[in-house]
Amino acid sequence: MAKANVSLSGKDILDLASMSVEEYELVMQTAMEMKKIMKRDIKKVPSLRGKSIINLFYEASTRTRTSFELAGKYLGADVVNITTAGSSVTKGECLRDTILTVQAMACDAIVMRHPVEGSSAYAAGISDAVVINAGDGAHAHPTQGLLDMFTIREKGRDFKNLKMAIVGDILYSRVARSNIAAWTKLGADVHVAGPATLIPHDIEKLGVTVHQRVEEAIEGADVVDILRIQLERQKSGLFPTPREYARIFGINEQKLKLAKPDVIVLHPGPMNRGLEISWEVGYCDNAAIRDEVQNGVAVRMALLFLTLTGGKKIENID
Ligand code: CP
Repeated sequence: MAKANVSLSGKDILDLASMSVEEYELVMQTAMEMKKIMKRDIKKVPSLRGKSIINLFYEASTRTRTSFELAGKYLGADVVNITTAGSSVTKGECLRDTILTVQAMACDAIVMRHPVEGSSAYAAGISDAVVINAGDGAHAHPTQGLLDMFTIREKGRDFKNLKMAIVGDILYSRVARSNIAAWTKLGADVHVAGPATLIPHDIEKLGVTVHQRVEEAIEGADVVDILRIQLERQKSGLFPTPREYARIFGINEQKLKLAKPDVIVLHPGPMNRGLEISWEVGYCDNAAIRDEVQNGVAVRMALLFLTLTGGKKIENID
């Protein structure tokens, strides 16, 4: 990767396709410093003291919402969580009014998850606060893409020499789109596989190789990214029964043997164990799934720090 000499100050983080390799590098380098803070006894620095962050989640989340909350708190910011279930959205408040309302409270950043593609870009267009997309429909999940990038780099891999397999529900996966955008930009050889009904039309235009059989995608792979079957977004009939899906497309130990012995197994979570991933693969030595979760905090700390301070000195890092 190139040396980072760019700034993310004040920038909305909406997708990875519109970010440069230098910007990725800046996030990676900063996240390495943030991980040092996470390993300290007292995981707190005052870098974002006086800043306020609102987590605005219109969809369920465990990893993303919690890690953004911890990331803000580790950096000394005030963090408020809004979920639709307990908010005035249930009374019919529209997205525009909700964004303008939280902005009126002088928040510095809005971290937003929403089921509609483009909703974060819409929020960014009407808000003065930094907007970080925490997942918008099937469009993008840039912070997941960056934490996956960090996890692969942390294991000493150079993207230019890697075969990546992304398997499963590509159609509904914002994680797949974000990782395809970043991994192709970084020069990796990206392969996708899954049921034909869950592979978007024209996905080859994104620079990936499409396979009908997951075995072909996995063969010789350095990284296997297993996507969650998004049961909440599925229309009926897009794949056979869950049992059939697990047999044909689910990743088990036998299929994983086709990959390189030191393959890195990724899964964004939450896992449907026994469906897209077997219990054994979820817990195997090659699985980096809990690394992804831990690195998610460091990467989100980096993004909040870089967008809200422009990358001023991280206090008391050592
Ligand atoms: N990977 C991910 O977005 O998980 P959550 O839905 O739990 O945030």
